[in-house]
Amino acid sequence: MRTTVGIIGAGPAGLLLARLLHNAGIESVVLEGRDRAYVEQRQRAGILEQGTVDVLREAGVGARMDREGLPHDGIELRFDRRRHRVDFPALTGGKQVMVYAQTEVCKDLIAAQLADGGPLLFEAEALAVEGADTAGPRIRFRHEGREQTLDCDYVVGCDGFWGVARKAVPEELVRTYERTYPYAWLGILADVAPSHDELIYNRSDRGFALMSMRSPHVTRAYLQVPAGTEAESWSDDEIWAELDRRLEVDDPTWRLARGPITSKSVTPMRSYVHEPMRHGRLFLAGDAAHIVPPTGAKGLNLAVGDVITFARALTAYVEKGDTEALDTYSETCLRRVWQAERFSYAMTTMLHRAPDATAFDDKIQLAQLDRVTTSKAAETDLAEAYTGFPV
Ligand code: FAD
Ligand code: DHB
Repeated sequence: MRTTVGIIGAGPAGLLLARLLHNAGIESVVLEGRDRAYVEQRQRAGILEQGTVDVLREAGVGARMDREGLPHDGIELRFDRRRHRVDFPALTGGKQVMVYAQTEVCKDLIAAQLADGGPLLFEAEALAVEGADTAGPRIRFRHEGREQTLDCDYVVGCDGFWGVARKAVPEELVRTYERTYPYAWLGILADVAPSHDELIYNRSDRGFALMSMRSPHVTRAYLQVPAGTEAESWSDDEIWAELDRRLEVDDPTWRLARGPITSKSVTPMRSYVHEPMRHGRLFLAGDAAHIVPPTGAKGLNLAVGDVITFARALTAYVEKGDTEALDTYSETCLRRVWQAERFSYAMTTMLHRAPDATAFDDKIQLAQLDRVTTSKAAETDLAEAYTGFPV
């Protein structure tokens, strides 16, 4: 088999890239190791930045998002029994974010690709990328019980943190930067209307909590738990009781709405960057190249930024013979990646309580929150980063 762009992975990065290339008249083949149901049901991110929303609309896959997604104009920061609302449009010249789950973004992109796009093969596991620094890179993959080869002009590794693509970059050229955190997120979905109409990022002496949502009838919530926690070790009652305690506030109108919990899972927290993001004709995008801790909702949006950058760069080459944007892909992406790493780290360390936190650490966190909620400059910085850096 042969194609112009071989894409490994049908997460948001690979699927959106296939759509952008299709719209630009460039052929691609997507190889996805798992089956369609798995990809469409994997619970992950929920917040789309303004730029991500705009790109999905421009790419022709925004109709259901515009019908069913929930545009949000702000978030609540809750700490020290106080509530503070951050007003995004007022601070950023009109930007919003959209609550629309990654599962739904993937379903919309898969439907569009199967309707009129290039091949999208499920249960096609890439085994290795070969010849990355030659004019004819190849993907070796297994599909329908046999090993096959996809010959490409370019390969884009959108295969997530556990993928194979980045292994094709020679070790001596690679530099990785990593930080793990001594805590994780226990995430739940519950069949109950959200307790508040915007997200709540909550710092307490018992640890972080986040109240989010998936629809007007479904609550998504997260609790900071020790790294290595098993989701099933928390009963439903324990989860609600802990959310209640962490979210306590001096506001008699606040009430946590409880309902049946339909899913529980634990997400580890990690910061990771793989440099460079390009080797020859192999390009890395999304979680294949970088991971952020989820506080601040940057993971999916960063993946989108990478594939927009690649699609624009390849289009410039195809239409004008200009290779500059392809040549500088890694540098262009990494600048934005490190801004997201910085923001995600800052939000994480401002809002989570480390197991060895001292009274000094607590006071510093409260001072940071006091600053963000009393200085227009500090609050604007948070609002700009949350709603997204330009691609
Ligand atoms: P992925 O979504 O990981 O997609 C990679 C795809 O490649 C997968 O479909 C995988 O099956 C496929 N693949 C892997 N190896 C191969 C192979 N060898 N051959 C073929 N296919 C392969 N972000 C947030 O902002 N908020 C959250 O709450 C949040 N929760 C998360 C929970 C978990 C458990 C994880 C892992 C991530 C979470 N993230 C969250 C991050 C966000 O979901 C990711 O940043 C986003 O999915 C990145 O998209 P991607 O397309 O780069 O990678
Ligand atoms: C969600 C996830 C996040 O990481 C975040 O910062 C906000 C919301 C969510 O899954 O709804």
